Amino acid sequence: MRMKILIIGSKGMLGTDIVSEISKTENEVIGWDISDIDITKEEDMSKIEKESPSIIINCAAYTDVDKAEEERERCCSINVTGVKNLVDICKKLNIPLIQISTDYVFNGEKEGYDEDNKKNPINSYGQTKAEGEDLIIDNLKKYYIIRTAWLFGKNGKNFVETMLKLFKEKEEIKVVDDQVGCPTYTKDLAKAIINLIEKDYGIYHITNSGKCSWFEFAEEIKRLTTSNCIIHPCKTKEFPRPAKRPKFSILNNNKIENLQDWKDSLQEYLKI
Ligand SMILES: NC(=O)c1ccc[n+]([C@@H]2O[C@H](COP(=O)([O-])OP(=O)(O)OC[C@H]3O[C@@H](n4cnc5c(N)ncnc54)[C@H](OP(=O)(O)O)[C@@H]3O)[C@@H](O)[C@H]2O)c1
Repeated sequence: MRMKILIIGSKGMLGTDIVSEISKTENEVIGWDISDIDITKEEDMSKIEKESPSIIINCAAYTDVDKAEEERERCCSINVTGVKNLVDICKKLNIPLIQISTDYVFNGEKEGYDEDNKKNPINSYGQTKAEGEDLIIDNLKKYYIIRTAWLFGKNGKNFVETMLKLFKEKEEIKVVDDQVGCPTYTKDLAKAIINLIEKDYGIYHITNSGKCSWFEFAEEIKRLTTSNCIIHPCKTKEFPRPAKRPKFSILNNNKIENLQDWKDSLQEYLKI
């Protein structure tokens, strides 16, 4: 059935790829970003009512993890109040909400998290994303919560771009080797999200396959780009940051087909 899919946060890293992937399907796509709708404003929800979409994909979020520690109120306004406004309009229109969430809802003490594991965030960003999830779970029947991690894509600031810049500027760099996760290509994630629309409602963990530390991720970028920069492994405590980071960010996918290995996706991304 042809759907009218509204993407909010359509100019962000993931939102851009979702709009582009949906445009290749028979569905109608509407992409809105902050200049079209501010999800923190209840009054803006009437615009959604007028448009009358069949489903909403919310990619809009406050995503600066370190800044969130000092800007907690603003972060909360987007990641909690904004989600509440979307929950209310989805309920009113009786349409499903797809919400993008994060590995940061967990504390990272466990070496892999299942979809139904208890949330226990360790920083402000994670707390607000967890609260947003709870609002959805408590108030909607038709929802998909998609937790993902370590995103890279061509339309946003990400680790791959940071490394490519550093490789050009420095002869030696240090990268932490005591945080483990799974790099995830936004294009792969976008396709998986579209396929999900036919599946049962609920919580899903979607990342590329495999795992690595940030150091191993950097080494693979170096290998694929034949850079000469020397990368030294180091520990998180050598790089104090305002927000605490989870040690293990592995999200076990127990519900859908696995995506390709992150190394294959990285190779694809670097060829663009
Ligand atoms: N990046 C990652 O590594 C990562 C990992 C796990 C989960 N996630 C989740 O994945 C989703 C997408 O992340 P992303 O990295 O693609 O984010 P992003 O690039 O920061 O994009 C978010 C978009 O939302 C817009 N926005 C911000 N506040 C808004 C508001 N009040 N109303 C409407 N739009 C607003 C932003 O506009 P401005 O740029 O003008 O603020 C931006 O275009 C988020 O839910 C994030 O929590 C991301």
